[in-house]
Amino acid sequence: MHTVNVELGDRSYNIEIGTSLEKTGGRLMGLGLGRKMALITNPTVKKLYGQRVIDSLKAAGYLVMSIEIPDGEQFKNLDWANAIYTALLTNFFDRTSALVALGGGVIGDLTGFAAATFMRGVPFVQVPTTLLAMVDSSVGGKTGVNHPMGKNMIGAFHQPKKVLMDLSVLASLPKEEFLSGMAEVIKYGVIRDAEFFEYLDTNREKILALDPDALEQVIQRSCEIKAGVVSRDEREGGLRAILNYGHTVGHALETAENYTIRHGHAVAIGMVIAARLAQKTGLCDASVPGRVEMLIRSYGLPTDPTVLSRKPSARELIGIMQGDKKAEGGKVKFVLPKKIGEVIVTKEWDERHLQELMTQ
Ligand SMILES: NC(=O)c1ccc[n+]([C@@H]2O[C@H](COP(=O)([O-])OP(=O)(O)OC[C@H]3O[C@@H](n4cnc5c(N)ncnc54)[C@H](O)[C@@H]3O)[C@@H](O)[C@H]2O)c1
Repeated sequence: MHTVNVELGDRSYNIEIGTSLEKTGGRLMGLGLGRKMALITNPTVKKLYGQRVIDSLKAAGYLVMSIEIPDGEQFKNLDWANAIYTALLTNFFDRTSALVALGGGVIGDLTGFAAATFMRGVPFVQVPTTLLAMVDSSVGGKTGVNHPMGKNMIGAFHQPKKVLMDLSVLASLPKEEFLSGMAEVIKYGVIRDAEFFEYLDTNREKILALDPDALEQVIQRSCEIKAGVVSRDEREGGLRAILNYGHTVGHALETAENYTIRHGHAVAIGMVIAARLAQKTGLCDASVPGRVEMLIRSYGLPTDPTVLSRKPSARELIGIMQGDKKAEGGKVKFVLPKKIGEVIVTKEWDERHLQELMTQ
């Protein structure tokens, strides 16, 4: 097992990579959590892994209640946050009671949000079961729910007390979900670590075959990079924005497609477009977008908007990007690579270049 520490003063916590679900209860001892716990999950994950976690928590002496949220992004909303509050109040949960999120990013975000807001904040633990949740959403403390008018529009920063990852759960994850997570993994290589980018290229077969050592490497390095960034800039005052590489266009594509496109697919296309934009802006030579595109394609991820049901125009995308919560006064910031392993965040980009890229 490997441990990555997210260094945030008195809110620091450990990510334990390679533990097992059966040890969940034991791993939470010593964190000062109250005896009452709510396991929050969805029917898909509960059927596969719920009982193992419940048994382990009970064996460690916790009183466990489980709350089921239907499976799907459309249930990451205030109505279901409210359903969690109601269940907690009905069962006399207090400020020491903890929530345990067992599932992908949807369950993690919703549980984290409920934990951030119930009685002005109760502790919570992440037990991520998708690759995306392991390498991205369970780490860093961004929690939230969707509003009918926009994704992740209601939220709070609330760090978990611990993140526990049993990598064997990835065996049951549908392949497309795994690949969606790989888009975020590739992102870490581009923004921070050329050697890791290389590793992903060289070890593709092992990674795609879910070789345990390769998976552990991939998840550990991704978590180290995310933890390093979040430790320096918890609330996205500066550096943390580099984690949005590929997400500026990615989010706009998701909105234009009414969220029928997978997040990882949208980010994959967004990363290629941002790399090409960087080249057009004069920040890097053609080898950078070339390598980014090749690696993304080699993992079976899309690299251009032709996979979409309808190719949105650059104007439409810019309109959507300007409405994003990350835009400042209508100015859209792009994360652009200077080379593999180094990016800058800039508002200095030319709309015509994006137009050219979208019409190619
Ligand atoms: N908070 C953050 O920093 C952050 C970062 C990135 C993404 N997100 C959020 O994460 C969400 C997406 O997360 P996701 O990609 O994990 O999707 P998800 O939570 O919807 O999970 C994908 C699917 O896989 C199923 N599943 C989960 N684990 C499984 C397993 N081990 N075996 C079989 N099936 C399993 C789920 O039931 C679901 O059907 C979005 O809501 C996004 O906004 C948050």
